[in-house]
Amino acid sequence: MKKAFKWIGIVLGALIGLILVAGVVMYLRGTSNANKVYTVEPSNLTLPTDAENIEYGKHRAETLCAGCHGADLSGIENWFDAPPIGRIDSANLTSGEGGLGDDFTTEDYVRAIRHGINKEGKPIFMVAVPSTALLSDEDLAAIIAYLKTIPPVDHTLQAKHFTPLGYIMAGAGALGDLPAAVVSHDAHVAAPERAATVEYGEYLVNTNDCRVCHGQQLNGAKSPDPTTSWISPNLTPGGELGFWTEEQFITTIQTGITPSGHELNENMPWQAYRNFYDYELQAIWLYLQSLPSLPQYTE
Ligand code: HEC
Ligand code: HEC
Repeated sequence: MKKAFKWIGIVLGALIGLILVAGVVMYLRGTSNANKVYTVEPSNLTLPTDAENIEYGKHRAETLCAGCHGADLSGIENWFDAPPIGRIDSANLTSGEGGLGDDFTTEDYVRAIRHGINKEGKPIFMVAVPSTALLSDEDLAAIIAYLKTIPPVDHTLQAKHFTPLGYIMAGAGALGDLPAAVVSHDAHVAAPERAATVEYGEYLVNTNDCRVCHGQQLNGAKSPDPTTSWISPNLTPGGELGFWTEEQFITTIQTGITPSGHELNENMPWQAYRNFYDYELQAIWLYLQSLPSLPQYTE
């Protein structure tokens, strides 16, 4: 009997030892991924100076950046906040106190928005990067030109913080890939002409995070945030949208209420998307309707 206990003890001890070693390996992998330095080609973007393009940059920032950086773009505290894992504030994009600072150059903006890395070339935790990396040179330049004109707002945010468990989970891949590890890092990106076409609708869907939440095939997906557990609806004609008209789609995005009277919850950023121009919503609608009819994603 005693002997059996001894053996159980040895086996258990070895198992716990193995788990600890695996934890340390994952921790090291998590911290080394987070501290990897990426080098990218300079974009040499030329920023527009005319009022029309800067206004367009404002429009894109309202639909795309304000949802995570706040209406005045001064950053949101605890944008990601899960105590066992860690905490991330989104950045203050203004030139006020706690903002990006005067030495934040056009290339630094490009590094963040297109490549998902900071000044030092290290990955940032901006989940929108797989979308914003696809912004054309023209659109990116207009957004940066606009950001350089916004009024300074003093708002100091905290440095991001991860717990050892957060690094272990990241190392084990439980928090998803770092954007810098998955985007293409092309130095230049082109876009179709701005118009109510299927092609332009596809570009808007790609660059506005729809796939981040509704899945690569847009037939619904799990929340990209590992601390929540919703599944988003199917946007292909195989879902409810197969029964909607263009007008009903546009009204849904502009009011947050679907044709059946359902009020969209705060997980769907319609408050930002209601700023889309009509031709942009038409383009998105045309693209969604052109998709193959797929069944709703389920786990
Ligand atoms: C889904 C949310 C989300 C969206 C959308 C988003 N951001 Fe961010 N952004 C963040 C978070 C979170 C951080 C902080 C990341 C970190 O500290 O690692 C950040 C950081 C940044 C930084 C700082 C980079 C650095 O070097 O520290 C810049 C610049 C930035 N975002 C610009 C933008 C612009 C411009 C847009 C719109 C085109 C945008 N972001 C859209 C969440 C978002
Ligand atoms: C941050 C995650 C997120 C992003 C980004 C997002 N959605 Fe959603 N969306 C949701 C969720 C969650 C719902 C379901 C909300 C509810 O039922 O209350 C939803 C619902 C919808 C609906 C209603 C569908 C139905 O059957 O009722 C439409 C239409 C829609 N989204 C379109 C889009 C489009 C177009 C984009 C990109 C421009 C987009 N969404 C981006 C999370 C997101």
